Amino acid sequence: MNHLIAPSILNADLLRLGEVIAMLNESQADMIHLDIMDGVFVPNLSFGFPIIKQIKSVAGKPLDVHLMIADPNRYIERYRESGADYLTVHYEVCEDLAATLKRISGAGMKASVSVKPKTDVALLKPFLEYLDMVLIMTVEPGYGGQEFIETSFEKIRLLRKLIDEAGTGTLIEVDGGIGMDNLEQLRDAGANVFVIGTSIFSAENPLKMISELKNL
Ligand code: DX5
Ligand code: ZN
Repeated sequence: MNHLIAPSILNADLLRLGEVIAMLNESQADMIHLDIMDGVFVPNLSFGFPIIKQIKSVAGKPLDVHLMIADPNRYIERYRESGADYLTVHYEVCEDLAATLKRISGAGMKASVSVKPKTDVALLKPFLEYLDMVLIMTVEPGYGGQEFIETSFEKIRLLRKLIDEAGTGTLIEVDGGIGMDNLEQLRDAGANVFVIGTSIFSAENPLKMISELKNL
């Protein structure tokens, strides 16, 4: 399977959001990554339901919604109504992860869990059957433009092994500090989906950068 590119708009020019989405629609991006932050789980605030709904109304790609929020169970169905196609909750804030993942699938979305850099991926083994995707954070969640954490490679290799043994076909998504200089190594380690924000939106020509990343 060719690798998938999920541009994160957190660091895009939000004053020109309509143009940004139009560019992504035209690009080789496979989905649009939306970072939802509540100022509690992470020390930052991003965007809420009204903006997701407006993006959905013009997006030509699936919405990959990454919830960096406390107690995500409060809003699962509302994210579906707002247009989420993939919904990622953080392992660190789920009391009953299996129940949450089943609720996400039941609401008609792809179910995904994210782990922070210090969280062991082996903890996910009992949940793989409920997981369409796992998002491995390769930076501490909360901000775009951070340095890639090198120890992420061994986590990806271990998770790839667990998924292949389980035969669940769960996607591995990686997120934070990714670009032309490390995508291929991450793909070799077993990642399939690449969340990329700064490397795309700080490029001279984001459309061209997405094509280059897609065709590596
Ligand atoms: C950080 C977010 C990332 C970020 C993208 O908490 O989850 O998606 O916006 O990271 P960069 O800008 O490093 O590609
Ligand atoms: Zn993200």
